[in-house]
Order: sequence, then C-alpha cells, then structure tokens
Amino acid sequence: MKSLKNKNVLITGAGSGIGRLMALRFAAESSNLALIDINTAALKALKEEIGKKAGGISLNTYACDISDAGAVSKTTAAILRDFSQVDVLINNAGVVIGKSFLDLSLEEFHRTMNVNFWGHLYFTKAILPGMTERNSGNIVNVASSSGLLGMPLLSDYAASKFAEVGFSEALRRELKKFGNTGVKITCVCPYIIDTGMFSGFKPMLLSPFVKPDHAAARIVHAVKKDRPYVMLPAHSIRGMMFLKLLPTALFDWMLKMSGGDGAMDGFTGRS
Ligand SMILES: NC(=O)c1ccc[n+]([C@@H]2O[C@H](COP(=O)([O-])OP(=O)(O)OC[C@H]3O[C@@H](n4cnc5c(N)ncnc54)[C@H](O)[C@@H]3O)[C@@H](O)[C@H]2O)c1
Repeated sequence: MKSLKNKNVLITGAGSGIGRLMALRFAAESSNLALIDINTAALKALKEEIGKKAGGISLNTYACDISDAGAVSKTTAAILRDFSQVDVLINNAGVVIGKSFLDLSLEEFHRTMNVNFWGHLYFTKAILPGMTERNSGNIVNVASSSGLLGMPLLSDYAASKFAEVGFSEALRRELKKFGNTGVKITCVCPYIIDTGMFSGFKPMLLSPFVKPDHAAARIVHAVKKDRPYVMLPAHSIRGMMFLKLLPTALFDWMLKMSGGDGAMDGFTGRS
C-alpha cells in the first residue's frame, strides 16, 4: 500500500457529497489539497472544516466551472503554480437532470456532457503530461453504474458516463502500451450513493444505496492500491453486467421486474 502523505491531490466537485468526503479522507492521510467547485460557499466551509482538523498540509480552493475549457486552463495553471505538480487527480464533479430524452433540450444535454465528460477530460488533458513525464500519478474518473447500463430518464447522464468509462479504459490501456506504467487510471462505477444527488430515486431489487462515506473510503483505498475499477456495491454492478449477456428482451424484462424502469419516476434530485 502506498502512502498518500505529502502527495498533491486535486479534487473536482469537492464542495459536496463524495468529493467533500474524499477531501476529508485525503486530509487525514496528510495529503495536500487543491479543491475545486463551482460553489464557492461550500469550498469556504470545507476549507474551514479541514483547517480545524488537519494541520501541516497545504490546502487551496479554486472556484471553477469545469465545463468551461478556458476556466479549467486558468485554474490548472494556478494549481501548478501553487503546488508545482499534481500527484492524484480526482475527476468527480457531476450533474444529473433526470428528464426523458424528448423533454431534454439540446442545451441541457450539452450541459450534462460538458460537466460529466468534457470537464473531466479538460483536467486530464492538463494534468496527465506532468504525470507521464514523471511516469507517476493516479487519475480517478468518477463515472457511474449508468456508464455500464442505460436507464430510462437518464439518456444524457448515461451518455456522459458511458463516455467516461470508455475513455478511462482506452486511456488505461494506452498508457500501458506506451510504457507509462507508473500512471494509474481508476474508473469508479457506483450505483446510487445517498448524497442527495439522486433524491427520489426508488431503489431497485437487491440493490441498496451506497453510503457516501463508504464510497469515499473505497475510492481513496483504490488510489493507494492502484485499482483500475471501483464497483459499488460490487455484487449489484457485477449482476448488472451479467444481465447484459442475456438476450435483449430478457434483459429488458429482468430490469423492469427489478424496478429499473420506474426507478427515476419520483426523481427530484437537488432542489
Ligand atoms: N450520488 C449518486 O447516486 C451517484 C451515483 C453514481 C455516480 N455518481 C457520481 O459521483 C460524482 C459525485 O456525486 P455526488 O453524489 O457527490 O454529487 P453532489 O451533487 O453531492 O456533488 C457534486 C459536486 O459537483 C459540483 N459541480 C457541479 N457542477 C460543477 C461544475 N460545472 N463545475 C464545478 N463543480 C461542479 C457541485 O457544486 C457539487 O459540489 C458525480 O460525478 C456523480 O455523477 C453519483
């Protein structure tokens, strides 16, 4: 198990949910933190909270809309000035809308893709070259079980998360092919985590919600162990992947029977 002490960790979407909890966990490991969010009040509160608990680490916060390539470029330049290098990049910030495809505007579809996929890609593009030069570093892409299995009322979200899973897998294999074996990619595919992002989602059969702190702990552990995937909960995600081997009509029927078709019907999300 490698130590995270004095490593520089960049987390997007650190203001809330698992991003915030990962920040607290990395601080407890004595990592230095570059914390990014669009919500400046949440960043300020987190900085104060960590400041009270963890001494001796460097911590800076950066307000940035990760869907804006120009803003990401300015923010990464500031982070590299402040920290000189990033050892661990956690691409975590995300949004969900929860509308049918016919009700989604193109602007809404773009917004989901821009935050959940392009925002993550912009950071990877800016940070990866330093990692390949040193042949060392970890990149974590927080995708979703929606990156493995499409659900009604999540067409934009699934598209962004399928893109994230495919990007992570291709990049992981490409780094190996070109000898950058010291740079590790972790793709995180959780089912619903109880953070409030998916408020109103009705749990499917045999698929309990994941506790936010458990998700944060598993991701930090995966960085220490250089794991390529984090599936949460593992049995539910493996079950979903097994279903994909079935004929499509049977696959659709089984998902309907397990509550998958109506799971998003009462979705309210964050107000
Ligand atoms: N909560 C779940 O059920 C669940 C399940 C699977 C995957 N995920 C994924 O996990 C990640 C974190 O989810 P969470 O539940 O902690 O969500 P959350 O809503 O609690 O936190 C997301 C954070 O991202 C920030 N953010 C949103 N748009 C941004 C932007 N344009 N620029 C910068 N910051 C922005 C928000 O301000 C917020 O602080 C997301 O990528 C999400 O898709 C969540």
